[in-house]
Amino acid sequence: MTEIETDDATPIAILGAGNLGTAIARGIVRSGLRTASQLRLTRRHGEAMAELAAEGYGTGTDNREAISDARIVIVAVLPQQVIPLLGSIASALDAERHILVSTVTGASIETIRRHVGPALPVVRAMPNLGIQTLNSMTCLALDEVSEPALAEVDSIFDALGETVRIEEENMAAATALCACGIAFFLRAIRAAAQGGNEIGFHADEAIRMAAQTAKGAAELLLANRSHPETEIDQVTSPNGCTIAGLNEMENRGFSSALIGGMVVSARRAVQLLPTTNGE
Ligand SMILES: NC(=O)c1ccc[n+]([C@@H]2O[C@H](COP(=O)([O-])OP(=O)(O)OC[C@H]3O[C@@H](n4cnc5c(N)ncnc54)[C@H](OP(=O)(O)O)[C@@H]3O)[C@@H](O)[C@H]2O)c1
Repeated sequence: MTEIETDDATPIAILGAGNLGTAIARGIVRSGLRTASQLRLTRRHGEAMAELAAEGYGTGTDNREAISDARIVIVAVLPQQVIPLLGSIASALDAERHILVSTVTGASIETIRRHVGPALPVVRAMPNLGIQTLNSMTCLALDEVSEPALAEVDSIFDALGETVRIEEENMAAATALCACGIAFFLRAIRAAAQGGNEIGFHADEAIRMAAQTAKGAAELLLANRSHPETEIDQVTSPNGCTIAGLNEMENRGFSSALIGGMVVSARRAVQLLPTTNGE
């Protein structure tokens, strides 16, 4: 790959402006990396992006046009949609200029390469919805050909949260822990809020209180680089209400439910392979 001159105005294309694609777009704008008009968002049903267009995002249905002035091309479609998409843009991709970033679950670099050729830099990225507020945990994997593109891709995702480079074989595990993980923790917050509701708070205030408490717990681990049990030991007074609550939760399978869910989720991620039906 040749080093090319890029500046802060070089557009970024996001092909597949669904849940994740839109969250990435919003994160990029929030981070100041690009303005909305410097993003090129596509989906087949262009009318579904009316709100984004009204906010100033570049939107359209033509993927080839979207990548024409972009360097970074982020593909964020479903596994069954990726092969038709890659087929339709392959001849417009330039290995000297473009870097393809795929967030598509189950689409291996080898599979992507079969459709875009051996020379194009291809990086697999597994971010999560936290990217919208610059709190993503993004896992990146790439092959040797794409090595020179890593710094550029890393610099984008670094601005949108934390990044870690992993082996591609661990992508399914990363999908379960980090991408699906957002939903797991949201469900835990919902359950905590339901408990809060039952013991005396209005539902909406209970959710806010539970979410802020969860944020505080996560921040403690990240700031102190500590183990959860180290922090838990500081909350559990002898014969106190915290340890009584924790033990009741463990009796009901709290930890094993999370671990079991994670394992099932990772197994499913391995089974999600790109197909050619497009839907
Ligand atoms: N959601 C997450 O939190 C998350 C996290 C990490 C990874 N992922 C992965 O990221 C991918 C996207 O997930 P998602 O949840 O954002 O799915 P989604 O909401 O279904 O978004 C996919 C989008 O792709 C568009 N699309 C399909 N074919 C297209 C084409 N040929 N050209 C342009 N756009 C096209 C669809 O819109 P039209 O039907 O209008 O074309 C749709 O809006 C998946 O592979 C998923 O596994 C998701």
